[in-house]
Amino acid sequence: MKKALLLLTLSLGSLAPAWADLALATAKNCMSCHAVERKVLGPSFKDVAAKYRDSKGAADALAQKIMKGGAGVWGAVPMPANTQVSEAEARKLALWVLATP
Ligand code: HEC
Repeated sequence: MKKALLLLTLSLGSLAPAWADLALATAKNCMSCHAVERKVLGPSFKDVAAKYRDSKGAADALAQKIMKGGAGVWGAVPMPANTQVSEAEARKLALWVLATP
């Protein structure tokens, strides 16, 4: 029984990597200021994806901003630095945000 559950979890995980990244974003506290579909304190990830989808180097720029924070792009409210996120995690989150349909 336990083994079956584990297998189910593993196969679901590989079928839906987007869920895994949502889980990472939730674990890293991103979702307390962001949502995928609507603005919260920060912009929705859908809006972020639409803004940068076609711009070169966006993943790197967003990964830096996720780690260091910043202000002035979406409004007056700044995003504080997210020091709980490693560089690899920031890149993974940036790519996930950019892939929002
Ligand atoms: C305390 C609230 C808060 C938290 C926590 C937070 N953000 Fe933000 N985020 C914001 C705000 C506010 C902005 C808009 C900043 C601006 O206008 O430049 C923003 C902007 C962004 C942007 C767009 C940056 C740009 O230059 O267009 C991305 C991508 C982003 N956040 C991802 C994340 C991720 C990933 C996390 C989790 C590691 C996270 N945020 C955590 C508030 C937050």
